[in-house]
Amino acid sequence: MAPTRPALIHIEKREARQALAALPLRSISVLITDPPYRTVARRGGSGHLRRWFASSLSWREIGQTLALARSRMRPDGVAFVMTNPDGLPEAIAALGRAGFVRVRPITWDKVYPGLGGGLRHQTEFVLVGYLPGSRSLAGVDLVSVRAVGPGTADRYPTEKPADLGRALARIANVGRGDFVVDPFCGSGALLIGAAERGAKVAGYDVAAAAIKRATGRLTVGTKPAPAARTSPSSRARVGRTSAPSTTPRRRTPARAARPGQTRKGPR
Ligand SMILES: C[S@@+](CC[C@H](N)C(=O)[O-])C[C@H]1O[C@@H](n2cnc3c(N)ncnc32)[C@H](O)[C@@H]1O
Repeated sequence: MAPTRPALIHIEKREARQALAALPLRSISVLITDPPYRTVARRGGSGHLRRWFASSLSWREIGQTLALARSRMRPDGVAFVMTNPDGLPEAIAALGRAGFVRVRPITWDKVYPGLGGGLRHQTEFVLVGYLPGSRSLAGVDLVSVRAVGPGTADRYPTEKPADLGRALARIANVGRGDFVVDPFCGSGALLIGAAERGAKVAGYDVAAAAIKRATGRLTVGTKPAPAARTSPSSRARVGRTSAPSTTPRRRTPARAARPGQTRKGPR
């Protein structure tokens, strides 16, 4: 499949707050993100688990990142922020503290929640954070998309289905001229729909494995979009893409987290 226009895609190994701080004011039109929230108290764990949890954040910390993102948003911007049911109250509070004037949940029905220890979540939430001038959203507040199963080849830990990102891009009516950002992009799955619709996208993550996967997916795995002009209002650095990766992923620390031990909860 031909690559999506790489000049409109920017994937970078960078800490979320640093990345957002470097973006111009009024540049982000849609924020789509699944933050590394910490919802289960950590007990024990060593080696790979310790490394994975070292990069998870409290909702208070995530709220600070969201506040920074909000300060970079266009007046008609909107934010989509994922949480599982355990984190719902804290996540709503974090969006409020970040300055979003209204928060409304979209329910994601995973259709098949997959295997795992303990009681599994059939649903998760995508919180919609509105600004006073947010664009109108279209569609309904329930999205049914099959979760990415544990047996999926090349799966990134906590990877979300690309169709979920596509649904959100549709709901926000993302198009050319939009700048869509995921500061915790992981595999880049949630940005694919926006890229397919001709938006400029930027994804950031601290994990090298995430950057490798997101770069490969967004330059190869997306459908070619028709030629479009880059939005002149954003000065985000774009075009930093590397050759698509076809190398099979090795087991990563995060991927090795086992149900029943301390973990971020069913994602
Ligand atoms: C829940 S995962 C995102 C999964 C992604 N939505 C997907 O579908 O693959 C959260 C990501 O945040 C990254 N992360 C954790 N702390 C970060 C930070 N301070 N800045 C940027 N990325 C961070 C982790 O490496 C992880 O890939």
